[in-house]
Amino acid sequence: MLVGVAPVPGDGDAPASRLYTAKALEAGVLPAGQTPFAVTKKGLTLAWVTLSDKGSQGLRADAAGPAIAETCAASLPLALAQGHLIPDEPAELRALLLDLAVTQGFDCIVTTGGTGLSPRDTTPEATLGVIEKRLPGFETAMLMASLSKTPHAMLSRATAGTVGRAIVINVPGSPKAVRETLAAVMAAIPHGLDKLRGDPSDCGQG
Ligand code: MTE
Repeated sequence: MLVGVAPVPGDGDAPASRLYTAKALEAGVLPAGQTPFAVTKKGLTLAWVTLSDKGSQGLRADAAGPAIAETCAASLPLALAQGHLIPDEPAELRALLLDLAVTQGFDCIVTTGGTGLSPRDTTPEATLGVIEKRLPGFETAMLMASLSKTPHAMLSRATAGTVGRAIVINVPGSPKAVRETLAAVMAAIPHGLDKLRGDPSDCGQG
């Protein structure tokens, strides 16, 4: 139940805003005369994770992560995009994916880098360690689109799947590869998220 709204004056660069105070109700019963207060999320939330030993040490600028946000924002109604830059450490990636998907409830999580054959490339193994339902269609669509751009695409072992109510996608580590791979799967993400959340509509009628 909403119990108060207080104006918060602006301060320097911070604009004026409002502070909402809410109180939990027992058994969801509203006192007479009170109207329910609901918080709804409009749009999708995206988290991107750049896997790069050099980037995480400040030795290389991360261009691939921002390319994920740009590419997704061009095709999806994003309410929030948040980025992370971590070393190629599988345990760290597994923990971050679970936190982003299960604890923070992000809709879509895209990792970049670490999908190839170098000794430190372990993104697919770490991702498969937390995926519940694998999405081979996403993997195939990204590979097909990529092979039309470069034969080196067959060196990527990128995976995709679901973790909780999130779709998780691996893409290779260059901004060019980010754009080429994500372009192939963007169109299926909103419908995939609907289905993941239990949308009972009959797909055969479309
Ligand atoms: N896929 C697309 N679409 N475009 C690319 O330029 N590069 C390939 C491949 N997939 C590439 C691509 C190369 S050169 C490599 S080594 C692998 O992705 C693995 O890249 P990663 O280790 O940065 O993930």
